[in-house]
Formats: sequence, structure tokens, C-alpha cells
Amino acid sequence: TTIPVLTIDGPSGSGKGTISRAVADRLGWHYLDSGAIYRAVGLAAAWESIDLSDPDAVAACAARTEIRFESDDAGEPRVIVNGKDATHQLRMETAGAAASAIAAHPPVRTALLDLQKRFRRAPGLVADGRDMGTVIFPDAGYKVFLTASAEERAKRRYKQLKDKGVSVNLDSLLHEIAARDERDAGRAVAPLKPALDAVLLDSTGMPITEVIERVLAVLPDSL
Ligand code: C5P
Repeated sequence: TTIPVLTIDGPSGSGKGTISRAVADRLGWHYLDSGAIYRAVGLAAAWESIDLSDPDAVAACAARTEIRFESDDAGEPRVIVNGKDATHQLRMETAGAAASAIAAHPPVRTALLDLQKRFRRAPGLVADGRDMGTVIFPDAGYKVFLTASAEERAKRRYKQLKDKGVSVNLDSLLHEIAARDERDAGRAVAPLKPALDAVLLDSTGMPITEVIERVLAVLPDSL
């Protein structure tokens, strides 16, 4: 029998991270934050002063970057990049922009394929990203494409960053996120788009608890 996978793809600020974590928790499944992987590679490349527009140099960096997902004593997720706790830095929109830049290079995506596929472990996996249902786990039994209006996504991201103590300007955040989504949707390789067999879910104005219930409703009761 194959290990079940639920993919949750969508643009930034759609609530994928929060929803995917909550759903994985409820199911007792593993969780893959693929965006954090691209962010970590962007950061590692920046640390090594690698030209982010050089596909092969970034792909080589991706292959040697060590990324560990851990939890701290309070159970909060931490991301360790080459031995350094990069959790805070990875959340900044500069890391998001760097991720989006390097994520457009085909050799970088290829270098990160196995790492992502290895997250598929018993009893199951919730995979969060842009191409989880289309490229990484096309055979996943359950697929959701989560969206929300651009304005609501920018506001959520703004609140998220503010709660984490990062100072941001809502207007510039709106522009940065719109630019990133446009690049993610317009790129030639693994563009942001719903898998043909994905359930589309627009969470605009929907409380988180309801989004979680709707995602869980995509799964059979037997799980
Ligand atoms: O989801 P998150 O905002 O952390 O992702 C950061 C960036 O990483 C995205 O804007 C996208 O360019 C890239 N990404 C990707 N494929 C994924 C996940 C993220 O290209 N599966």
C-alpha cells in the first residue's frame, strides 16, 4: 500500500502554512513546508554570495545545503540551515523574494526533488507549496488548491509578520507579494497552478477553523 499524501498548494498568504500544520496535527501525519526549503536555499546562497540568477551555481548550493526541521521546547517549528537557526530570517519577505528568484531555475528544482519526496513517510504526509500536487506528488490521493483575495492575503501576511515582531509596511508588502505571485505563476517550470484533480478552496472571509474543516472534508472518513 502507498503512503497517503494530501497536497495543499496556493499563493503566498493563502493560509497554507497554518492550515497544513493544523491538518497534519489532526491527522497525526508528517508535514512538508516546501516553501521553507526554497527560502533556506535562497538564504544559503546569499550567505555564500552566490549570484541568485546563476542556475547552476544555485543548484550546486542547493545540493550541499543542509536543512533541518526541528521543534523548540514550546513545540514551535525551527528551521536550521547549515547548522544555524534561520527561523526568524526565513520569514522575512526578503527571504521570500530570494526563494522565488531561485525557485524559477529548473536545475535548482531538480536538486530539491529527492529531499521533498523523502518526507513521504508513514502514516501520511501533508505537503504545502506551489507544485506539490502537480510535480512532486502528482499521484497524491488528496489535493487542495487554497486561495484568497490578494488583499486578504497581504493583510494576513502583514499580521503574521507583525505578530512575529517584524516591522512591515502594508502597501509595500502588497506590492512585493503581488510581484512574487506573478513570478511564481508565470515561470516556465512548475508554475503555481491548481492540479487538474485539485479541490479549489477560496478562503476569503472564512475563519481558519472552517478552512481546516473543509480541507479535512476532502479526505475519506476512514482516515
Ligand atoms: O510558501 P512560501 O511563501 O514560503 O514560498 C516561498 C517561495 O518559494 C514561493 O514564492 C515560490 O517561489 C517558492 N516555492 C516554490 N515551490 C514550492 C514552494 C515554494 O517554487 N513548492
